[in-house]
Amino acid sequence: MYKVNENYLKIQGNYLFSTIAKKVQEFSEQNPDKEVIRLGIGDVTQPLAPVLVNALQEAVQEMASADTFHGYAPDLGYEFLRSEIAKNDYQSRGCQISAEEIFVSDGAKCDCGNIQEIFSTDNKIAVCDPVYPVYVDTNVMAGRTGKYDAVIQGYEGVIYMPCMAENDFVPEFPKEVPDMIYLCYPNNPTGAVITKEQLQEWVDYAQKVGAVILYDAAYEAYIASDEIPHSIYECEGAKSCAIEFHSFSKNAGFTGVRLGYTVVPKELKCGGVSLHDLWARRHGTKYNGAPYIVQKAGAAVYTKEGKAQIKNQISYYMENASMILEGLKQAGYQVYGGVNAPYIWLKTPGRMSSWEFFDELLKNANVVGTPGSGFGPHGEGYFRLTAFGTHENTKKALERIARM
Ligand code: MLT
Repeated sequence: MYKVNENYLKIQGNYLFSTIAKKVQEFSEQNPDKEVIRLGIGDVTQPLAPVLVNALQEAVQEMASADTFHGYAPDLGYEFLRSEIAKNDYQSRGCQISAEEIFVSDGAKCDCGNIQEIFSTDNKIAVCDPVYPVYVDTNVMAGRTGKYDAVIQGYEGVIYMPCMAENDFVPEFPKEVPDMIYLCYPNNPTGAVITKEQLQEWVDYAQKVGAVILYDAAYEAYIASDEIPHSIYECEGAKSCAIEFHSFSKNAGFTGVRLGYTVVPKELKCGGVSLHDLWARRHGTKYNGAPYIVQKAGAAVYTKEGKAQIKNQISYYMENASMILEGLKQAGYQVYGGVNAPYIWLKTPGRMSSWEFFDELLKNANVVGTPGSGFGPHGEGYFRLTAFGTHENTKKALERIARM
């Protein structure tokens, strides 16, 4: 008799956002007259910027003619996109990252989830608590953790690093030494940011203990302050201890189009083995690349018009973030994030648990958010709202919350 991968049996319940979607669907079926506003999953609502739509349309036309048709993309992604990424996202910020160190993919979620494959299952992972569930779940699936422990509300063998208001949601170095450290800033779910000095300390720590940092920079486009690093490679020495993930979902609205990239510097070596070569091998074997038309749209993000149109879209969402921050403060909530990030992290009122608040908000305000405890035990008593709604819905949601 064949056997399943038993590591999958350790995973708790459903993926957080699937559980929420199911609850909301049930509520809507029972209350068909109620207009539900979704500020739960971080999915964008604004249409693709015109310059991106043009790029997509032009690329589709190319596909319609034998002499301009494109089949399989090159393993690492098209050079026209990788060179724009290297120039705009790195070299212009003083980071010496070349196009050959960039791997284009269909999104940061897949890369964040898949990257662990190139590391030994004996490695110990450290994650922030609360945390984007993908980092933990994919390591559970790979067998890099023990069983789920209901008491600690976490998996055996995982180093959880508490992120609380007391430490500005930036973790302290763990007592136990990790091999792989997942960091995400601007942070999902807390909306917190890390300063360059703090990030440099993490780079120095990783070098000292011989760990690799897996840095998720999916929300870097929301950074409004010059003090906050856009990339871990702004820190000295990061090229020899860090891998970085980027998404086009949150800056350019590609959640439904799918595009992202991962940077694996050539000088990143583990006992003499090049991680760049391992990831290239994995990419070539398991992946046939993001579609040509999507990579063309990705390159349009870096044109002058593309940058301007995308900037407007980010401002649009950040106006929502300010509206949520102000509205919640006025309604008496304790709030965090929402300044350099599209997420607002609020303390649930009284002693209400995160899921109790979820139910209350859905029932009484018909607003969907994400329970903080779904991101880890230190998320208990917190709740996440996203700034990715429309202005109209965000305003309406806040009016309803204020009335609650
Ligand atoms: C979130 O809501 O945390 C994000 O949408 C997750 C993701 O980007 O996969």
